[in-house]
Amino acid sequence: AIGPDSTLVISNKVISPDGFPRAAVLAGGTFPGPVIIGKKGDRFRLNVVNQLTDKTMLLSTSIHWHGIFQRVRNWADGAAFVTQCPITPNSSFVYDFSVVGQTGTYWYHSHLSTQYCDGLRGAFVVKSDNEPYINDYDVDDESTIITLADWFHKPAPEQTGIVPAPNPDSTLINGKGRYLSAPGKPVDLAVINVVKGKRYRFRIVGMSCDAAFTFSIDKHIFKIIEADGEETAPLVVDSFQVFAGQRYSAIMAADQPVGNYWIRANPDRGNQGFAGGINSAILRYAGAPVAEPTTPFTPSTRPLKEFDLRALIAPKPPGKPHVGGADVNINLAHHFNLDTLLYEVNGVSFESPTVPVLLQILKGKYAAQDLLPKGSVYTLPPNQTIEVSMPPVGAQRGGPHPFHLHGHSFWVIRSAGSSVYNYNNPVRRDTIDTGDLGDNATIRFVTDNSGPWFLHCHIDWHIDLGLAIVFAENPAGTADHIKPIPPAWDQLCPKYDALPPS
Ligand code: C2O
Repeated sequence: AIGPDSTLVISNKVISPDGFPRAAVLAGGTFPGPVIIGKKGDRFRLNVVNQLTDKTMLLSTSIHWHGIFQRVRNWADGAAFVTQCPITPNSSFVYDFSVVGQTGTYWYHSHLSTQYCDGLRGAFVVKSDNEPYINDYDVDDESTIITLADWFHKPAPEQTGIVPAPNPDSTLINGKGRYLSAPGKPVDLAVINVVKGKRYRFRIVGMSCDAAFTFSIDKHIFKIIEADGEETAPLVVDSFQVFAGQRYSAIMAADQPVGNYWIRANPDRGNQGFAGGINSAILRYAGAPVAEPTTPFTPSTRPLKEFDLRALIAPKPPGKPHVGGADVNINLAHHFNLDTLLYEVNGVSFESPTVPVLLQILKGKYAAQDLLPKGSVYTLPPNQTIEVSMPPVGAQRGGPHPFHLHGHSFWVIRSAGSSVYNYNNPVRRDTIDTGDLGDNATIRFVTDNSGPWFLHCHIDWHIDLGLAIVFAENPAGTADHIKPIPPAWDQLCPKYDALPPS
């Protein structure tokens, strides 16, 4: 793990986390990248050094700290062409931000095109400054992080544009996995070690490019206490689905006979099931033999449903308790256009501008009609409650789509899979499944963080196919709000423009 004052070198390396060697784009030379650990209120100075050389993948980069609000630091959000130009090879950029009022489980990833599918992903944990855990939250150990990732054998640029998305070859749990019909000796799977009688907080990080995973551990149940950096009232489940970008903290008691148990993460796309140890890792009790589990899969009887999750302590969602009861109400109908083979939000497919939206705003463009990309930027007034409903409509290819909002977490007024609206005590989070035809996932948030913020499907291939918009929050007040912007930020675009095309 690395701390708040660290350097992250981004470089190319051939790795074979599932036994198949391929060139990758890595942070710190590993997959996943090093865990970044800080505590509440810390100031992070993360120096990203670009040493990329492999022309079969992208040579520039940009890193997003997923779930961190970047209050008054919109310029440090890392979304390429929304808040910055990419960092060119042989240069570096310091992301300097304080994590104010947030604790929990986050992650970081490249936010340039589909680059994170090539490997640049890692976990990011913000610990509470030793607030004592109480009652249900009491655990003996909270050090375990379990990352769930899909993995592709071909470089992302070769697969970008495949409709609705390329199939993953394998699932990596903590960076290890197996693929179907792999020759030779199978790769050792990740092992999570526990001691009988102890209670653990597992932080499960969904760092998928595409697949949603159904997570379970044979014979064990969980108490969910966190969703996307927001504390939840404890909810007992025996499995939960983790969409791309989502995180959960689950308390698990090691209360079964000493032995080995399968940890399972079954993807909704690619190769499903557990044949030969795919989509699996091992939970091992101290004293158990070093062997693979033989525990049988039993179907879930208590799966997590998002609308059963409640915020632990939180003010009620702002606005009036009815549909459309916010100050500003926005409907984002999203669908797949069978003629263009692109995704659209309200009839517009997002196309990355060449000038970052933040730079356009700093140059004095404040109105949606002046901001590029046209039809994809929605300007929002400051200090208002915004309600956003996100119905999938028309041909729904490659869904369900997990939508992530930068710069905020939001109240989930209505979840996919439910027609109930909760104006009382809904869960807060930053990434929400928008479900299927007939669903209408609805969220509310308050515009207290000026700057342009991405809202997009977290299936990385789908951003490239246009499934995104930008909320430009208080554009006229943004320059003042996010001061000072470091001179290095100003240097990113000239350097990027000067880069010869590879
Ligand atoms: Cu985790 Cu816009 O990203």
